[in-house]
Amino acid sequence: MLYDVIVVGSGISGLYAALYARRAGLNVALISKSNSLRSNSAVASGGINAVLKTTRHDSCRDHIADTIKGADKLARLSAVSAMVTGAEEIIRELQEMGVAFDTDEEGNVAQRPFGGTKAKRTCYIADKTGASITQTLLVKCRKEGVKILPNYVMLSIATYKEQLSGITLLRRRDSQVIALACKSLILAGGGFAGIYRGHSTNSQESSGDLIAIALRAKMRLSNMEFVQFHPTTLLNSGTLISEAARGEGAYIVDENGERFTDELQTRDKLSRDIVKHQLAGHTVYLDFRHLGEALIDKKLPSARKHALMGAGIDILTELLPITPSAHYTMGGIWVRDNTSTDIPNVFACGECAHSGVHGANRLGGNSLLEAAYFGRIAGIEASRVAKKGDFHPINYALVDKEARYVEAILEGESRFNINTMRRNLGNNLYKNAGVFRTHDTLANALEYVHYLMKMTSGLCCVNKERNDNVELMSIIEFRNALTVAESMVMSALAREESRGVHYRDDFPQSDDQNFEVNTIIRRLAATFLRITFEGHLSSDWWHRIRQFFHAQ
Ligand code: FUM
Repeated sequence: MLYDVIVVGSGISGLYAALYARRAGLNVALISKSNSLRSNSAVASGGINAVLKTTRHDSCRDHIADTIKGADKLARLSAVSAMVTGAEEIIRELQEMGVAFDTDEEGNVAQRPFGGTKAKRTCYIADKTGASITQTLLVKCRKEGVKILPNYVMLSIATYKEQLSGITLLRRRDSQVIALACKSLILAGGGFAGIYRGHSTNSQESSGDLIAIALRAKMRLSNMEFVQFHPTTLLNSGTLISEAARGEGAYIVDENGERFTDELQTRDKLSRDIVKHQLAGHTVYLDFRHLGEALIDKKLPSARKHALMGAGIDILTELLPITPSAHYTMGGIWVRDNTSTDIPNVFACGECAHSGVHGANRLGGNSLLEAAYFGRIAGIEASRVAKKGDFHPINYALVDKEARYVEAILEGESRFNINTMRRNLGNNLYKNAGVFRTHDTLANALEYVHYLMKMTSGLCCVNKERNDNVELMSIIEFRNALTVAESMVMSALAREESRGVHYRDDFPQSDDQNFEVNTIIRRLAATFLRITFEGHLSSDWWHRIRQFFHAQ
């Protein structure tokens, strides 16, 4: 099949991009490997930031300043300013599409405070904001003629003489590898916090498939070491309890009922305070009891439901045990302000891209805004170049190579258990590349990632079924997760300072002289990754460690 524009990923950025490409009059396909409502967009519940005309005591200037301060000096001012000044239009547009934001007594969009600002800036739909926006956009895409192709797993970018020609995909229905041709491609497949399996708010599917594919296609990745831990997730499962809870006044307390931190500081600092308190022997809780049933049921119904279903706790009367879990990844595919990447006619937006707006730490409520704002830009830019472009031939040797890869996983003899390996990776990363890290813990994580990479040749399907084989998809995801984990840990090792969410116990200060720059990682050959800091080549040691441990 031929499409002018293919969008991969069905969270808010992908849906927005597809809608705008379609509105430019083009033939657009939206590919997703499963259900839109499993995307990270749908999980981000608490709200979307915008300064509105009706907003009191706030301004775009303050929103820009808070975002840059939260980002610990690594945000790109041009991208932040564009996003912040475009925010009101996004909210209005979403309302016109049918998103029913909660309103105040005067009928204006209601706003709540979120961490990292004193202003009430976050627009919301109870604590179901991301899911509501995703649903509305999905309906809109369907109505306006975007061709939605669920249950396809992207495998690679196909190029012809260094020009984009299309993508290869695994069709889950029959495990066949197929190719689709396109003139432009938008990567919007989400971040990779799901690699912290068992310690993440993300679904296990959010493990950075498109980021791994981009790296293999020799595109640059940037700032992979910056993984945000959400401070308030259920202790036993990592289920998100939205920042909306703290925005509406819930406290963080310990077993003595003592408040020991500022609940509305940025997520990086709050997560560190919580982990330090836990390491000192305390248990940490969210306390909703003073908020009352009426407020909880109106504004925090999902928090009440998740607490009851996930922990058996009634937050009206009981304390809810919480802990930080991996939630969002600031780094990803290197892009310019217009979402273009290293390959002509390939664009990236949303969490899989490093748009430069979040720097070393993202403010709550800015991710849904980023997804919508840059999704729209990607849709506009991709359709602009598609209108001028041509189709290029698909290299069927690539399709054949991917088909052999899938066949080997399906037909090979299974020697290891995929679920155990995924859990072990999550546990190791949480322990060694978590809220606090050091050179030694990171080196341990890297060694473990390389050990798992060597084992993947023995990771094949026990179930040989070709119709919707979940195990096959899990193995492909896991291989991508390892590629992404390697880049993340190597970047974290190279950044010998503390900044934003990246806290090195062995380098507790920030070092602006050497590190007020973005980390760039690029694959030069199968076993050769190069790390630079925006122009400075870091020590060759990083190349050697990979060659020593890993022969893929
Ligand atoms: O806590 C939350 O509702 C998450 C929001 C976000 O990540 O922006």
